Parts: sequence; C-alpha cells; structure tokens
Amino acid sequence: MTVTLMQKSHWGDLAAKWSRIGSPLRPCGEDVEIFRQALGPDNGTHLLLGVTPELAAFAGRTIAIDHNAAMIDAIWPGNHAQRSVVRGNWLNLPFAPDQFDTALCDGGLTQLSCPTQYADLFAQLARVLKPGGRILLRLFLSPEQGETSTEVCSDALAGNIRGFHAFKWRLAMAVAAEAGNINLPVSSVYAAFERLLPDRARLAAASGWAAEDIATIDPYRDSPMHYSYPTLSQFRAMLPHKLKEIAVIHGRYELAERCPIVALECRKE
Ligand SMILES: C[S@@+](CC[C@H](N)C(=O)[O-])C[C@H]1O[C@@H](n2cnc3c(N)ncnc32)[C@H](O)[C@@H]1O
Repeated sequence: MTVTLMQKSHWGDLAAKWSRIGSPLRPCGEDVEIFRQALGPDNGTHLLLGVTPELAAFAGRTIAIDHNAAMIDAIWPGNHAQRSVVRGNWLNLPFAPDQFDTALCDGGLTQLSCPTQYADLFAQLARVLKPGGRILLRLFLSPEQGETSTEVCSDALAGNIRGFHAFKWRLAMAVAAEAGNINLPVSSVYAAFERLLPDRARLAAASGWAAEDIATIDPYRDSPMHYSYPTLSQFRAMLPHKLKEIAVIHGRYELAERCPIVALECRKE
C-alpha cells in the first residue's frame, strides 16, 4: 500500500469523527486571529494546504489542496468565485512557479515524515510562492524537554488536563520522546493509551471527558500512518536558506505553546 493510500484510509476514519475533534488539533478562534493578523490586509492568492474550513474565508482568493476525498467532502465549506479546492499532493504541487502570495497550513506538517518530506514540501512552497511570499504554518512541536507517557496519564487521572485532544497530543509527543524518534507510528499512541489507561469509565470520571471525545483515539488503533513531532530547534534546523523565519506566535489556550504559528518569508535571490 502506498503512503498516499494509507493516509486516505486514516483521514477517512477521522473525517467520520470530525465534529468531535477540537482544539488544539483544530484551530481555535485565537489561532484564526493570529493567521488573520499575519496576513494583514493581503488580498492576494493564498494556497491552503488541507481543507481547514477555519482558514478558508480570508480576504483574497484561496486555493486549497488536499489528497483525501473523504476530508474534502466532510469539511470543505464549498467553492465559490474566491475559493476552490483541488485534489492533489502537497509534495508535488500542480501549480506554476510564483503563483501564490501566501501559503497556509494548520497542523499539516505532522503528517509528513521528518526530515525528507519536510524538505520536499519546503522546496515545493519555495517554487510556487512569489518572491517575498509568506508561509504561515501552525505546527505541532514537541517540548525541548520531553515528558513521559506515565506522567501524562497520571496528569489525566488527576484531572489536570482540560481537553482530551490536548491529552492525546501530549501523549503522542511523550511516546515519540520515549522512542527517541521524531516520527512515530500513530498506532503506538493507541497502544500506550490502552496500556496506561485501560479503564475508560474511570478515565472519563476522573478527567470530565465525554466518552465520544475519548473515542476519537480509536482510529489510531489500526492506523498505518506515522506522525512527526520535531521540537522548534529541530524544525529550525530543517529550514532551507530560501525560507527565512520572521515570527513564531502562539495563543493562550491549553497546549498553545506547543502549537505555534510560524511565519516564514520566501527569498528567491
Ligand atoms: C491540514 S491537516 C491537519 C488538520 C487540521 N488541523 C484541520 O483542522 O483541518 C489534515 C489534512 O491534510 C491532508 N494531507 C496530509 N498529507 C497530505 C499530502 N501530502 N497532500 C495532500 N493532503 C495531505 C489530509 O488528507 C487531511 O485532510
């Protein structure tokens, strides 16, 4: 099975549960405002990696690209004169050079393997952006000082984690840190969850999380996908000379410090 087909089945399963997915896996109002301010009054053409509806309504023209039909059907808010979606692969963008003023992505790099596919994406974005074009990426970054999966699960049972999705990301980053690998099989997050927190009723009572939210971890069980969680310093080390960091901004919601929006400028000299 190719990587693309595997991603399709993983995202097809998640698309069915999308209404239960929340911040920080989806952008909240604070994130959207940071994107909006970073874009400024830009009326240019934006390339949206993925079909994140919260990022599909900025001033200007938006062209989204996603390879998963189930996700497009489930969450894309529809085409009109200023907005359209293309089915395709971010790593082989079907666009001419120097076509876009900005590229936006919410959490999408987590699905790419590090460092090879990050480098492939950066090369594609540098090609399709105009000189001086901006890239705004909300990233999911591991803390420089990793925590253990046992610590995360103890925090959950102590009622110290407000949202299940923040827990899920902390657990995933902890499993990656313990494995000493930026790229981790998504199924290993499920395995750690089952091993450390086998009693969902007890977890729900201790944490206050709804059973339906906890069930959003179920598609991870048989997922053939990998997620990547570099630290900010590892991310910076992967940036090519053509992409210059200009800002790293995050909100104040739970786990926001691990979900910053990084603004890059494309240099073509
Ligand atoms: C944008 S990301 C993360 C979800 C995001 N936080 C949100 O709220 O929309 C998810 C999307 O990336 C898409 N995707 C992942 N890798 C891709 C690739 N190489 N090419 C095109 N689409 C890809 C998946 O199909 C999925 O719809």
